[in-house]
Amino acid sequence: MKTIQAISYPVHFQEESYQELSNLIEKNNYSIIFILVDENTFEHCYPKFISNLSTDKRIEIIEIESGEINKNLETCMGVWNAITELGGDRKSVLITLGGGVITDLGGFVASCFKRGIDFINIPTTLLSMVDASVGGKTGVDLGVLKNQIGLFANPEMVLVDNRYLATVAAREIKSGIAEIIKYGLTYDVKLFDEIKNNKDLKISDLIFRSVEIKNEVVLQDPKEKNLRKILNFGHTLGHAIESFYLESENKKNLTHGEAIAIGMVCECYMSSKIVGFPVEKLNEVKDVVISIYEKTTLLKEDFSAIMELLKHDKKNVNGQVNFVLLNDFEDFKIDCNVSEKLIIESMEFYNL
Ligand code: GLY
Repeated sequence: MKTIQAISYPVHFQEESYQELSNLIEKNNYSIIFILVDENTFEHCYPKFISNLSTDKRIEIIEIESGEINKNLETCMGVWNAITELGGDRKSVLITLGGGVITDLGGFVASCFKRGIDFINIPTTLLSMVDASVGGKTGVDLGVLKNQIGLFANPEMVLVDNRYLATVAAREIKSGIAEIIKYGLTYDVKLFDEIKNNKDLKISDLIFRSVEIKNEVVLQDPKEKNLRKILNFGHTLGHAIESFYLESENKKNLTHGEAIAIGMVCECYMSSKIVGFPVEKLNEVKDVVISIYEKTTLLKEDFSAIMELLKHDKKNVNGQVNFVLLNDFEDFKIDCNVSEKLIIESMEFYNL
């Protein structure tokens, strides 16, 4: 069995991990096992999950509606009420079975319930396997503003079983690929090259390497004071674009990965103008992004609304938007101030 040791918990990979999960449940003698699912993971992932779990503890399923739009405090209230009505106590455990919404929201719910109960993440999408389920960030959105309410809290275990990816639509897989590109550009360009060359992607290797990188970064800077900011590459503008599409009723929503892929192209452009990121590499990143994701045209008339949303980014200090920029592949500069004019120019560059 492959395992990565995170700050206070193991990340186990593949089928053999279920034995570890059963052992953990036994060792901690949990009173009730709550399993948080959405309608999709209940139908497509829960049967596999439960057939692999061996325990005689009481199990209760709590289902929420899927989608980023439901990643809010109202949904949390529903889950807290359900746990309470079902008799949850401090010895209960919450297992999150789902994508980033489930693992982020579930971790937050568990960490606040009676001042904190244990939780265990079982990511079922590529995005949550390579990013959301690992690293201790939990939380929900405030309106369309992403992850504004939350806290750092670590799970007891993460179990990555990539057989769940068979239940996920191709568009969602591509969403997770964007996070792998991020690790490639900021930390290990081999990952970017593999995606660029796109020959028989070995998804389990890509997942393992991504978690390794994320863990290396988080171990050095768990609370995002410094190095961890690189994990936000592409997310500063990307989150604003994602929020904008989320709140625009007449536009189709972008997946998280689609939005941050645009954000990475734009932030590479800013990097080329401010810290000398090579132009040929900028074009390479743009070509790879355009080849994977359907092109979205960012309308000029939408720029000001996107700029407005950017003002709420969590990395901002004193009203100043802070970007992570690239001097080169694997070479970054954090806390860079970028003028509004250049941010707009970067969106125009993406549109070209
Ligand atoms: N998703 C970025 C981070 O966990 O820091």
